[in-house]
Amino acid sequence: MIRYRERCRTPRASLLAGERGPSSEIFNVSPPKFPFSGYMVNETELSRIGISLPQLLLEKFDEIITIRGYSSRSEGIRDAIRAYITHYQWMSDVKGERQGVITMVYDHTQRGLMQTLLDIQHDYGYVIQASLHSHVTHDRCLEVILLRGEGTELKHVAERLMSQKGVESVKLTTIPVQG
Ligand code: NI
Repeated sequence: MIRYRERCRTPRASLLAGERGPSSEIFNVSPPKFPFSGYMVNETELSRIGISLPQLLLEKFDEIITIRGYSSRSEGIRDAIRAYITHYQWMSDVKGERQGVITMVYDHTQRGLMQTLLDIQHDYGYVIQASLHSHVTHDRCLEVILLRGEGTELKHVAERLMSQKGVESVKLTTIPVQG
């Protein structure tokens, strides 16, 4: 772990800044609506926070912000947090009848994980149409799940899957079902 310390005035913000388990990404194929309610916050006042990150995660982040030409880590982290908030609010917008696909990557050697993921999928059997499993490496699996149903239900499936330890990423893509 690398720890870079800064004065901490807003402890809750450190949670937002990425002290979280698996990376997850959720989006819809329709473009997001701006501005999101609650997103237009006053950004003129700055608070300093301290966060701890796994070394590998920080190295990957530094590599990306270098390629993208950010002047500082802070600027990159601010953008990452904005993107996280946007994704979350976009995800909250998934409503109505939808056809969707979840792509999920996980470590099948994580104790009990495969059974848990299977149980969750059975809990939502009424919206899950099919799934496809591919063994990416000896430890990692890729699963593609096809769903159809109320958008909020599809979102719940994705959220439950992504909150499990050992799940590396979960991405939900949906399209509205018309007529
Ligand atoms: Ni597998």
